[in-house]
Amino acid sequence: AMKKIMLIFGTRPEAVKMCPLVRALRERGKVQTVVCVTGQHRGMLDGVLAAFGVRPDYDLDIMTAGQMLFDVTARVLLGVREVLEKEHPDMVAVHGDTTTAYAAALGAFYLHIPVAHVEAGLRTHDMAQPFPEEFNRQSVSLMADWHFAPTAAAAENLLREGKSAERVFVTGNTAIDALRYTVRQDFAHPLLEWAMGGRLVLLTAHRRENLGRPLEQMLRAARRVAEAREDVRIIYPVHMNPAVREAAEKVLSGQQNIRLVPPLDVVDFHNILARSYLVLTDSGGIQEEAPALSKPVLVMRQTTERPEGVAAGTLKLVGCEEQGIYESALQLLDDGAVYAAMASAINPYGDGYAAERICEQIEQRI
Ligand code: UD1
Ligand code: UDP
Repeated sequence: AMKKIMLIFGTRPEAVKMCPLVRALRERGKVQTVVCVTGQHRGMLDGVLAAFGVRPDYDLDIMTAGQMLFDVTARVLLGVREVLEKEHPDMVAVHGDTTTAYAAALGAFYLHIPVAHVEAGLRTHDMAQPFPEEFNRQSVSLMADWHFAPTAAAAENLLREGKSAERVFVTGNTAIDALRYTVRQDFAHPLLEWAMGGRLVLLTAHRRENLGRPLEQMLRAARRVAEAREDVRIIYPVHMNPAVREAAEKVLSGQQNIRLVPPLDVVDFHNILARSYLVLTDSGGIQEEAPALSKPVLVMRQTTERPEGVAAGTLKLVGCEEQGIYESALQLLDDGAVYAAMASAINPYGDGYAAERICEQIEQRI
């Protein structure tokens, strides 16, 4: 009989990067592909599934308002138990470093089902940043049998931790595959019309460890940038976390060149990113997408697990303090040479065919 793989994911970024793999596995048709979403995110997940035309076979629908890590971990673990015991997949694939990935891998591990880890080997080596993601990703590496590293540096992290070289593969990042699917020449959007004639700055922020003071500092910096340079048009698709929404409203509402909008559909987001001037973010995935589109990114964090983008010159770590973020943004807006150096087209995250490479390995190893 055909071997069966189950892909388990649950948040927006996992969906963006796993849907290309789901599509590739299904198109190749060499293994039976079952998709289980946990629903750790609800609104922000469903839009991505729709954009990629992926209909899940299972939906654990675990999200609750104001969920804590306890809730997510426990509900995912118990939820996947049932599905895994029913389906008996030959392999489980999880992505990255979310609590869905951690708890789903743990469930597979308890049932002795081999785990494939997509986007393996990213490290900050600081358990507090990002929290709890650094713990999640290191834990998944302990449980995984196959490690799909997006870059050579990520693979080296795994080899340094003692993983066998026969189980670590450098594939590129499926985020670039996703861009190949979403970014189009003929794209129009009301937000682009609003920003026309100005310089579009895309802003996102949501990290758990930044909630509270750091997030407020970031948003204050953005507000000062908007006040200081009138041609700037800041678009901020606000994460659905109520703590983030509250801060965004409090600090940024009422500024005429800032637009706070609900999370954007992934096709809209990628196309708007492709037409932006500059990005301010604490997101992980956007640190991969923006360099691929030659967009400078000011990373509002102390540390990053994506050093390739920093080395390439497209990412700059600017910390979480208002003054530092503000000064770096103004420098990029005012100094053409600094801007040009960061906007040069270097893409360290692959050629957009990562999913095919991952499929080839899965089909051989399952
Ligand atoms: C999660 C991941 C993080 C990832 C981020 C991407 C963990 C621990 N964190 O963080 O690694 O960077 O997703 O966005 O896995 N909410 C909604 N609707 C939604 C999504 C979220 O209302 O569609 C609310 C939830 O109910 C919760 C809050 O937002 O109250 C936070 O969601 P949660 O999944 O717990 O963590 P994120 O901060 O989104
Ligand atoms: N994204 C989106 N709509 C938005 C903001 C982001 O589709 O309004 C996409 C973005 O292109 C990337 C992913 O969501 O693919 C990143 O998600 P997020 O920043 O929430 O998570 P992280 O990457 O930090 O884990």
